[in-house]
Amino acid sequence: MIGLDPRAASVWTPGPLLGVETSCDETSAAVLSTNGTVLSNVISSQHAVHQPFGGVVPELSSRAHIETIEGVASQAMREAGVQWTDLAGLAVTQGPGLAGSLIVGVNYAKALSYALRIPMVGVSHLEGHIASAWLQDPAFPVPCVVLVASGGHSHLYLKQSDAGCTLLGRTRDDAAGEAFDKGAQMLGLEYPGGPAIDRLAQTGSATAIPFPRSYLRKESLDFSFSGLKTALLYKLQEMDQGQRDARIADLAAGYQEAIVTVLVDKAFFAVKSSGVTALAVVGGVSANTRLRMLLQRRASTSSIRLSLPPLSYCTDNAAMIAAAGRQALLTGKRAALDMEADACLALQT
Ligand code: KG4
Ligand code: ZN
Repeated sequence: MIGLDPRAASVWTPGPLLGVETSCDETSAAVLSTNGTVLSNVISSQHAVHQPFGGVVPELSSRAHIETIEGVASQAMREAGVQWTDLAGLAVTQGPGLAGSLIVGVNYAKALSYALRIPMVGVSHLEGHIASAWLQDPAFPVPCVVLVASGGHSHLYLKQSDAGCTLLGRTRDDAAGEAFDKGAQMLGLEYPGGPAIDRLAQTGSATAIPFPRSYLRKESLDFSFSGLKTALLYKLQEMDQGQRDARIADLAAGYQEAIVTVLVDKAFFAVKSSGVTALAVVGGVSANTRLRMLLQRRASTSSIRLSLPPLSYCTDNAAMIAAAGRQALLTGKRAALDMEADACLALQT
């Protein structure tokens, strides 16, 4: 251990906090005020870098993080109006994610922690997504059910307290975002596929071309999206190029509908079976227009309180990492300067 051991101080005196997120293809930094409000949330997307390859190329991702992290963090500090020497803490995504990308953020946070002599904490990316539900709505109730629907996860949790979550169900194969991205690739749409399907589906009919919905066994809270992908593949194989071009919006709308209706049904079933009255839906897929509409409609007819973060907090961002890190620092957690990125970091439940 060199220099300051951030574990030495167990009581954290709240002050401005910098969050850093580099787990995948967004370089992001955010500053929270002493009382936890978001002062800045800068996101630099690498979509243009990966676009020609139709998906994230890990080597290019880590290189792009190295090139942008300093500028993104400086911009977040400038926009927040906070001086580096005023920072009281740091939060960084420790995992899960792409190893080479995580290392960039973790090393950046370590260097700052050492130079500024301030405590640092490593945060699970999932914990960050879950925390995003309270960024805009700090009074959102606990206990509640949280659906994390992203490129890597489709997980349903019961959040019983500020500290604890129980896993209720998860995908058995592809995550919802992965189903969007792979479906978009089959349809010949650009990367990232989720927003591309979302846009195209708005001009199509969700019922013109039926797709199977996978509920697994009755009352299961697990998901499965791989059969849906196969169904899309078979439908495309049955059509010639002209038919595909003519019906692409209907294909997108039908495919999207099969993903989002299962997400909505299972999330509300989880709420009912857990006996809670609040549901938070977070992660990149929660930016989906149709999903948001169906969730809002169902929540209003069933008197369930819904937290749907604004779009800038749905996809990867550092504000959510800062919020989860702030909570961890307040409960006495600290990372030492030998903390390592962990590509497979599991959520502590
Ligand atoms: O949370 P996120 O930014 O990164 C991960 O933690 O994975 O989620 C990215 C995923 C991608 O699969 C992307 O296609 C999907 O979220 N996504 C969407 C939309 N915006 C992003 N899926 C459907 N509709 C959208 N509007
Ligand atoms: Zn994410």
